[in-house]
Amino acid sequence: MAQDEMSPREWLYLTTPIYYVNDIPHIGHAYTTIACDVVARTSRMTGTPVFFLTGTDEHGQKVWQSAQKLNLPAKIYVDRIMPRFRDLWKFLHISNDDFIRTTEERHILGVQEALNQLWKKGDIYEGPYEGWYCMFDERFWTQKDVSDGLCPDCKRPVEQVLETNYFFKMSQYQDWLVSWYREHPDAIRPESRYNEIMGFLEKPLEDLCISRPVSRMPWGIPIPFAKDYVTYVWFDALLNYITVPLSMPGTAENLKRLWPATHVIGKDILTTHAVYWPTILHALGLEPARLIFAHGWWTVNGEKMSKSRGNAVDPVLYAERFGSDTLRYFLMREGQFGQDSDFSDSSLIQRVNADLANDLGNLLSRVVAMASRSAEDGMFRIPEGYVPSPELLQAAREILPEVPRLTLRFEFHKALGTLWTFISLLNRYVDSKAPWVLAKDPDRKHELDCVLSDLLEGIRVTAVYLAPFMPQTAIRIIESLKSSESLTGLSYQTDGAWGRLPKTLALEPVLPLFEKRNPDGSVQKEPRPARVGSPERRGEIPAPSPSGEPIPAEPLKTGESQPLTRPAKPEIDLEAFQGIELTPATVLAAEPVPKSKKLLKLTVDIGREKRTVVAGIAGSYTPGELIGKTILVLANLKPAKLMGVESQGMVLAAQTETGVSLITFDRDLKPGSEIR
Ligand code: MSP
Repeated sequence: MAQDEMSPREWLYLTTPIYYVNDIPHIGHAYTTIACDVVARTSRMTGTPVFFLTGTDEHGQKVWQSAQKLNLPAKIYVDRIMPRFRDLWKFLHISNDDFIRTTEERHILGVQEALNQLWKKGDIYEGPYEGWYCMFDERFWTQKDVSDGLCPDCKRPVEQVLETNYFFKMSQYQDWLVSWYREHPDAIRPESRYNEIMGFLEKPLEDLCISRPVSRMPWGIPIPFAKDYVTYVWFDALLNYITVPLSMPGTAENLKRLWPATHVIGKDILTTHAVYWPTILHALGLEPARLIFAHGWWTVNGEKMSKSRGNAVDPVLYAERFGSDTLRYFLMREGQFGQDSDFSDSSLIQRVNADLANDLGNLLSRVVAMASRSAEDGMFRIPEGYVPSPELLQAAREILPEVPRLTLRFEFHKALGTLWTFISLLNRYVDSKAPWVLAKDPDRKHELDCVLSDLLEGIRVTAVYLAPFMPQTAIRIIESLKSSESLTGLSYQTDGAWGRLPKTLALEPVLPLFEKRNPDGSVQKEPRPARVGSPERRGEIPAPSPSGEPIPAEPLKTGESQPLTRPAKPEIDLEAFQGIELTPATVLAAEPVPKSKKLLKLTVDIGREKRTVVAGIAGSYTPGELIGKTILVLANLKPAKLMGVESQGMVLAAQTETGVSLITFDRDLKPGSEIR
């Protein structure tokens, strides 16, 4: 596949589809974006320079209709929905380099320039159109396509139209396209999708209608040479892949450097990407994409996911409940990327309990607990003369490099399966070496510390290879091992190599990475049972706290303390409420509080003045993402000193299963506006 042969210097320009803002995101959208993020992060770790683009498709009939339903001007409507996508990607730790909205000027100008170029070249002509139109799919159909007045694609009623439109001469590029695909049999994946397109191209290609009369649908990019028309949404949307590099400083060089792109899409939008798009590119003098990967669809409990069925899975809900890394893991682990997959709570919970809580989480907490018990003066030391276990070393060298190799072939489930083979090996190593037995014999301390060094190093390299899939978990593991890597600039070549664990480690017991779940998704309350298959360890794992449970490294709240219904508080009267000064406050600056993992010092504007407030939100927000946000502050709370910094108010936030969520506003407003 193309990526395999990529030289390390060659750019990976990776794109997701740009998502329609006619509704809020569902797991289908999250799936593509997470997959691209995993590929982007993996590629960066191999040393490949990456430009990763996503965005929103904000024109067209569907969006227009959604705005109309709410009786809102289309621009106001799209401005409201777009953040649901942009913020979801932040929440899921997506590392995109840019986010394009098709209503941005940089895109509109790029589309108009492309239209002008094709118009001047004679590749666009004006002509009559008579036929059927499917409003939902926004496409024309000929008489032979339509039976019983229904769209052959979505089976919704079509309407008869007779109008003048503008057409792109797509048909004239058919022969060229077929021979290009013959020469590039790897350009569409999976192979079955390549065959599908070759089959489609056996029938004559028609010209593509690229305009919509303003009288019928005004929400689109005006066609520069036809004042009563806007651009067909697909022609507009596909061009985002080049309007972004073309609008960056150094325009032409940027496109040359990045192009051709790798497009990851769902199977339903293959024709637009594999037929319309390369012909448009060719007409503009550009090469087709390097690769189009069309993934399968998610069903839910075996049924098609759709708004009308009301079964669309909300990624925010699941990420809040189980953690964004867990959702990322599940979507990448379950099913095969090119095939359809099924989403169900039971399969998610099974993955959480078996793969995450048991195999990975339990391994980390037990090994760190044992190593901190073996530490002297609070320091675990890799013993003098330590020689890594040849068995583990060989496995790490043979198995782990397979993980990025499979990932770059979009075989995510296999990549994770391979990583879990290594994790199982580490678990078996624990079983076979029985460190809890070694720990009882002071004469075997050297042997014990060698085994623990093997395990700590094994876990560290696991975290490096896990990082593209579960970036937050990788950070937590790396932090708990006090190894110095940060995720920025992590590389397989250096960080992924065995033997980079610091010689001396000030280990603290860690909170379990993942909570085991009951079948209804609630957190299991009872102490976790020892792993099946190793009964000898049950109850014998040296525990750092009298209770036998690992002591939390920091008082980070987990889902366990978050019952869905909280006990009611005593009633208060209005006067008591009116004594509270709640105020919207805009964050002007944010910085960490020295020596604190949890606290951030914020400078906020509360309208009448600036205040310094200290908030325990560092685990959930970076200083950079807070600046400019308008949050809710309790302004008349008595000032208090936190870690030496005076806090002149309190930031309000809701506790989620994975951290905190700040209270923000869904309209623009001035800081200091009255709350009542
Ligand atoms: N706006 C166009 C894309 C333009 S790209 C130049 C569009 N948007 S969409 O929001 O409707 O769909 C975006 C992606 O979501 C598509 O790749 C589609 O395949 C994917 N999915 C929609 N439902 C899905 C599932 N049930 N499962 C997986 N992906 C799904 O099309």
